[in-house]
Amino acid sequence: MRAPTVIGAVAPSSRRLAEIVTAPVPETGDPVIVELGPGTGPFTAEIQRRLGGRGHHLAVEINVPMAERLARAFPEVDVVSADAATLPELLSDRGLAQADVVVSGLPWAAFPGDLQRRLMNAVTQSMLPSGAFTTFAYAHAMPLTTARRFRRLLAATFEEIVPGRTVWRNLPPAFVYNARRPRP
Ligand SMILES: C[S@@+](CC[C@H](N)C(=O)[O-])C[C@H]1O[C@@H](n2cnc3c(N)ncnc32)[C@H](O)[C@@H]1O
Repeated sequence: MRAPTVIGAVAPSSRRLAEIVTAPVPETGDPVIVELGPGTGPFTAEIQRRLGGRGHHLAVEINVPMAERLARAFPEVDVVSADAATLPELLSDRGLAQADVVVSGLPWAAFPGDLQRRLMNAVTQSMLPSGAFTTFAYAHAMPLTTARRFRRLLAATFEEIVPGRTVWRNLPPAFVYNARRPRP
């Protein structure tokens, strides 16, 4: 309640939403997985379960106390307290290549247009051309100007966007956008 335009949620995402938003995490190899806005970690837990010790999982959380709590709860995750807009530098500081998958928990519809664009630029600069980007949106918020603007930004940024079905077992109900092939 103190920071609605940064947190943008009333409750952590459900296990069901976490399963869907993390679906592109590959079952084999050592992928680089970036998670933006992990919060209390529902997506973090599911990414870790899917990785089973493989690859590199970088979680970028702007809220310092949340990042510290997450790092304690998930010692095998590379948790950094930073702005997701600095993602390209965070990857290069670590000598990591572009990400195979970017899973976003950011509250896009709570952001103004210039911040949405800045964050999306950071995402596309940081992912492989063959990579995947997933994020979620609250179903009830879709008529909002900011939510519609984000949807247009997604369509302008990626060749393919597949919106999933509404997950009713989430508070509030939400759906996942699955995006691939960032435009050059
Ligand atoms: C809607 S919550 C989602 C938390 C979690 N992924 C979930 O689904 O329950 C959004 C999270 O994004 C974080 N956040 C907001 N702006 C950010 C930014 N620019 N960079 C990194 N994290 C940010 C917030 O602090 C918050 O933890």
